[in-house]
Amino acid sequence: MASSSDVTQDAQDAQRAFRSALSMFATGVAVITAPRATGAPIGITVASFNSVSLDPPLILFSVDRRCLSLEDLQQTSTYAVNVLSHHQQHVSNRFSKPNSSKWDGIEFSTGGCDANVLLPEALAIFECEPYAQHDGGDHVIFVGRVVRHVVRSDSEPLIFFGGKYRTLTADDAVCA
Ligand SMILES: Cc1cc2nc3c(=O)[nH]c(=O)nc-3n(C[C@H](O)[C@H](O)[C@H](O)COP(=O)(O)O)c2cc1C
Repeated sequence: MASSSDVTQDAQDAQRAFRSALSMFATGVAVITAPRATGAPIGITVASFNSVSLDPPLILFSVDRRCLSLEDLQQTSTYAVNVLSHHQQHVSNRFSKPNSSKWDGIEFSTGGCDANVLLPEALAIFECEPYAQHDGGDHVIFVGRVVRHVVRSDSEPLIFFGGKYRTLTADDAVCA
């Protein structure tokens, strides 16, 4: 007969296998930023960013219900998606840990619309107003309406694949 610890172990193994399969989908890396009424701004590293709609212009990302910033993000009236370039791995690492000093030494501006918090070195920035939030199991799915976007085309993206950071090689960059 299976013991409860076997069942727990099986569930953990199944979850690990699922995560591992999902990690075969290469993504970029972005930091979701938003102002807070008091205290340091919100900053969360995500790989779940994706496009949704051109008309209206919508994007999405999902946030783990355990994230400390979730409640503030659910209440904010504006947020930005900062797509990281290949030299911003340290920025991704910084915003991927719950830490009170996340912003120490990180350059940011608050010059966007609605006083958005922006990472000026990002490859692209999408400033959004909240459009919808959906239940996503142990995550909350945020859909944002893009009100402004900028692109810096002179850099390469930071890639996340197989649980590791990657960069495009010269060959990868030339896909016909
Ligand atoms: C490359 C990478 C991608 C990540 N993607 C997500 C994601 O899409 N959603 C999420 O909730 N957490 C993601 N995380 C983990 C969060 O960044 C992490 O939980 C962070 O500490 C949340 O900040 P907070 O707890 O201060 O709110 C990712 C981490 C890394 C390193």
